[in-house]
Amino acid sequence: MNPVQVTPELERYIFDLLGPRDAPMRAMEEHAERENVPIVGPHEGKLLYLLAKLAGSKRILELGAATGYSGAWLLRATAGGSLVTIERDPRRAALARANLAAAVPNGDAEVLEGDVFQVLPHLEGPFDACFNDLLNSLASEQDIERLFMLSLEKVRPGGLLLADNALRQGEVSAPRGQQARNVAAYNKLVAATPRLESVIVPIRDGLSIALVSD
Ligand SMILES: C[S@@+](CC[C@H](N)C(=O)[O-])C[C@H]1O[C@@H](n2cnc3c(N)ncnc32)[C@H](O)[C@@H]1O
Repeated sequence: MNPVQVTPELERYIFDLLGPRDAPMRAMEEHAERENVPIVGPHEGKLLYLLAKLAGSKRILELGAATGYSGAWLLRATAGGSLVTIERDPRRAALARANLAAAVPNGDAEVLEGDVFQVLPHLEGPFDACFNDLLNSLASEQDIERLFMLSLEKVRPGGLLLADNALRQGEVSAPRGQQARNVAAYNKLVAATPRLESVIVPIRDGLSIALVSD
């Protein structure tokens, strides 16, 4: 059987079945559309939510908050747990704080402003899940490896290591540019790490899902 090609019609069909999003989520989606903020969108957001919920995640770490959209899905999945998310753009960090407060009133969300390499080493683990949304943002394969090692050590055994853009717009299988080489390096590290059981799901730009063991 040939794999299904996700046509715009099928995509609309899938989106329609996700169920309605509430006003704070829709406002973030509309803002992202208007301002070109690269958020995960509702389809992948719902998958992140379900993964975190299925894994019983209560304390989640996110790298790359932007305006708080994926963070809101993740925080909702914890049902009373907490989210720590890192963002280096001060305007986006402020928006993320406001959006997370609106999407999850009384939720325990901490938006840490700064570069991930400055902030992450000082964070105390363990976390039940880490969502890395910086694969497209780093300068080199060395940075990819550094961030991979830093984030892996923050996740408890039995936890989830997730990363967006694992297919880098389809360029990852024959990388030519630096960004595609970075993403390919991340995927290779995940696949080659014996403590990780992993798969890439070709949703949107690709989601890398890995389960951490001892
Ligand atoms: C793809 S966006 C995150 C989207 C968000 N996770 C969502 O789906 O709603 C990546 C974000 O990471 C931030 N960023 C890029 N490099 C960073 C770094 N070295 N440290 C911290 N944040 C960084 C960017 O400013 C951007 O807002």
